[in-house]
Amino acid sequence: MSKAKFITFEGVDGAGKSTHLAWFAEALRKRGKEVLVTREPGGTPLGECLRDILLNQPMHAETEALLMFAARFEHIEQVIKPALQRGTWVVSDRFSDASFAYQGGGRGMNVAKLEQLECWVHENFQPDLTLLFDLPIEVARQRLSRNITLDRFEKEKDSFFEKVRLAYLERRKKHPDRIMLIDASQTPDHVKVNLEKIVISI
Ligand code: TMP
Repeated sequence: MSKAKFITFEGVDGAGKSTHLAWFAEALRKRGKEVLVTREPGGTPLGECLRDILLNQPMHAETEALLMFAARFEHIEQVIKPALQRGTWVVSDRFSDASFAYQGGGRGMNVAKLEQLECWVHENFQPDLTLLFDLPIEVARQRLSRNITLDRFEKEKDSFFEKVRLAYLERRKKHPDRIMLIDASQTPDHVKVNLEKIVISI
């Protein structure tokens, strides 16, 4: 049996990644894999408390980054690594690339500081594969406008999301073997066809 993999889904708010993640996990299960679906910030009882704070309380960008990585430490140690060790695949809705995109790109935080946190929290531990759902910000915003309530991030301006998108694309340039770009402006059926090919190939 092949080794269990850690797969992350990334993209700006409104890219549709969460819907596709559910489908992707189900497709893996149909191929006989044990799959754990999780998310960041969150994934543990403490992580979910921190998520509530992060999505609702105003704070400095630095505090935001520290809390994201604190939640991540618990997530890795309590959930992700134990699952992989028992042969369960882990599919996470966001991981550290989101910190580089949102706190680094969106908030303009010093990338070297984020790299230090990354090194502290998960040196030598990275996703096996990251699917980056990319689309023009105006399309993502249109999709988001259907939501009744918006969190602290979703309420940000278009210019914030443009910076997040660019930072994600920079991250992909830096890690081309790990991060795969998915054109999220396509119809859900088209995206599914792409995901199906990925499920078959991994
Ligand atoms: P979600 O809406 O995809 O569940 O993610 C919640 C929000 O948290 C989303 O707007 C992106 C943001 N976020 C960060 O800013 N940094 C991070 O490291 C993570 C994991 C999420």
